[in-house]
Amino acid sequence: MTFADRYGPWAVIAGASEGTGRAFARQIAAQGVNCVLIARRKETLEVLAKQIQDENGVKCVIATIDLAAVDAFEHIRAAVGSREVGLFVSNAGADTTNTLFLESPVDDWVDQVNRNVLTVMCCCHLFGGQMRSRGRGGILLVGSGSCYGGASFMAVYSGTKAFDLCFGEGLWAELQPHGVDVLNLILGRTDTPAFRNTLARQGLPVPPDLASPDEVAEVGLSRLQLGPVHNWGQEDDQAGFAPTSAASRRARIEAIDAATVNIFSKR
Ligand SMILES: NC(=O)c1ccc[n+]([C@@H]2O[C@H](COP(=O)([O-])OP(=O)(O)OC[C@H]3O[C@@H](n4cnc5c(N)ncnc54)[C@H](OP(=O)(O)O)[C@@H]3O)[C@@H](O)[C@H]2O)c1
Repeated sequence: MTFADRYGPWAVIAGASEGTGRAFARQIAAQGVNCVLIARRKETLEVLAKQIQDENGVKCVIATIDLAAVDAFEHIRAAVGSREVGLFVSNAGADTTNTLFLESPVDDWVDQVNRNVLTVMCCCHLFGGQMRSRGRGGILLVGSGSCYGGASFMAVYSGTKAFDLCFGEGLWAELQPHGVDVLNLILGRTDTPAFRNTLARQGLPVPPDLASPDEVAEVGLSRLQLGPVHNWGQEDDQAGFAPTSAASRRARIEAIDAATVNIFSKR
C-alpha cells in the first residue's frame, strides 16, 4: 500500500498554519493526500493552501476554527462534510499561558482543556469510527514530554497532554486490530513560531538544539505504523520513568521544575 492508499484520500490537520502543523500538511500533501487545514488565521491558511496545491496538485481546503471553542467539533464536522478522512493529525496544543495555575483566569484553562482534550477526543470519535469501518487510516496526536509528569507552570498543559497520551494508547489498542494506526508523537523543544514567541516573551535566546518542524513531521509520518508512542530523539527502549513509581515521579517533577525556572519567571 502506498501512503495515499493507506491514509488518503483526505487528511485533516488541526493546527496547520505554522510550525509542525504546516510541515505535516506539506509532507502529507507531497504523498498525494488532499488536506483540510484547520487554524484560526485565515490569510495564513489561504497562502499555505495555495502553496500546497501548486506544489503537489492535491486539493486543499481551509477551515478557520478556534479549536478551543465549545462548538469547535461541530464546525470541524461541518467543514469536513462528506470527505473521506484517512488521516487525522492533532497538532495544535501548546501552552501560551505560561503562568502558575492560580495566576490565570480559569476560563484560560477551560480553553486549553477544550482544545487539547475535548476537541481531540470528538474528532477521534468521528474520524476513528469512519477509519475502523474502512479498515484503514491513521491518527497522529502531537504530544509533549510534559505528559509524563506534572510541573509548576504546566499543571493544566501537562494534564491535557497526559490525557492525550493515555487516550491515544487506548485508541491504538482498540483500533490497531482494525487496520487503523495511532501514534502519540511526544516532542521536546521544537523550533516553532509558538515556542519562539514564548522564549521572546521571557527575554530568552533561541537555544541551538531545537528540533526542526520538518524533521518532526518526517519522523512522525514514518513511524505512524509503529505506535502507540514515539518519544522524539529516543529509541523505543529509552521511554523511561516508570509510571507507578512515586519516587521517580517526584524526582522527575523536581528536575522539570529546575529546568522551567529558567524559562518562566517563577520565583
Ligand atoms: N514547540 C515546542 O517546543 C513543543 C514542545 C513539546 C510539544 N509541542 C507540541 O507540538 C504541537 C505544536 O506546537 P507549536 O509550538 O507549533 O504551537 P501550537 O500553538 O500548539 O501550534 C501552532 C498551530 O496551532 C494553531 N492553533 C493554536 N491554537 C489554536 C486554536 N485555539 N484553534 C485553532 N488553531 C490553533 C496555530 O494556528 P493559528 O494561530 O492560526 O490558530 C498554528 O497553526 C503542540 O501540540 C505542542 O504541545 C511543542
